[in-house]
Amino acid sequence: MSSSASPLTKTNQSRRPRRLRTTPAMRDLVAETRLSPSDFILPLFVADGLDAKREIASMPGQYHHTVDTLKAIAHEALDAGVTCVDLFGVPVDGDKDARGSVAWAEDGILNRGIRALREEFGEDLLVMADTCLDEFTDHGHCGVVGTDRFGNEVVLNDETIECYCHMAVSQAEAGAHIVSPSGMMDGQVAAIRRALDEAGWDNVAIMAYSAKYASSFFGPFRDAVRSSLVGDRRAYQQDPANARESLLEAELDIAEGADFVMVKPALPYLDIVARVSDFSPIPVAAYHVSGEYAMIKAAGNNGWIDPEAAMMESLTSIKRAGADQILTYFAIDAARKLHA
Ligand code: PBG
Repeated sequence: MSSSASPLTKTNQSRRPRRLRTTPAMRDLVAETRLSPSDFILPLFVADGLDAKREIASMPGQYHHTVDTLKAIAHEALDAGVTCVDLFGVPVDGDKDARGSVAWAEDGILNRGIRALREEFGEDLLVMADTCLDEFTDHGHCGVVGTDRFGNEVVLNDETIECYCHMAVSQAEAGAHIVSPSGMMDGQVAAIRRALDEAGWDNVAIMAYSAKYASSFFGPFRDAVRSSLVGDRRAYQQDPANARESLLEAELDIAEGADFVMVKPALPYLDIVARVSDFSPIPVAAYHVSGEYAMIKAAGNNGWIDPEAAMMESLTSIKRAGADQILTYFAIDAARKLHA
């Protein structure tokens, strides 16, 4: 029998995938992935010692906010349908110390920002807070620095976790609905869960930065928080070469009581997003980070790329890979685009 007569070939000849791509209505009918404003979480920076908001040079369109402009931008987010913000604090340099203790001060800038949003919005806007010390330490590491038995400088795991617990409880007291430990210390989720529960905050959720890579794509963020870091975070954040340890990290965080797991950055790690979402019994978030944002902005400002199309394509791809929530500096722009 000649091959053109085989039933299989006949089927293949009549199988025309382009039929489902013919018109906008047809494409919309068959779209497998749909973004919604409620998928997005908007990261925001609240800075101490400012009279007015100030644009972050490496993140055009993103700002260091005063407490007042923080409330204003949160209103814009909510009006666009974005129902969760993630707050980072930027203290004045004089308030930084070796342990980052202003991170859990009741009147520290991050807790003031949380309190202001919770008072302004009540339960209408979910307030998530970054639970990490790097913005607050004078050395810029995500934890307490000490020496090991050989005299090497190391970030001390358990001493750091004690600080995270103080910080998480102070964030809950300030009104955070979600705390988000991003420092990649072992056992941080279990310790924070216990500290929150003991303080009576059993309703406060934990979004665990489970698979957080030592990434060059965090560069603009470090400018944004005026990081004091010298060196790198490779001794606690993950090696970009590895996938398996992400599965272990996510499994541990789930076992320790995380309510969400997160993969970060997003686009360079879509394989990780997909593998974690394949097995996770809890929501999987992905963080489209500062460098991913800055690249689209920079190429767009040069006329080298259509920035809006690249934004929507990036966010769609992150969701298609399996992310349930996307942390993105584009949250308001993308939400507005979805309404347009
Ligand atoms: C650390 C933290 C970082 C980011 C979020 N939390 C930076 C880092 O680990 O150096 C990066 C966010 C971004 O790049 O958008 N607390």
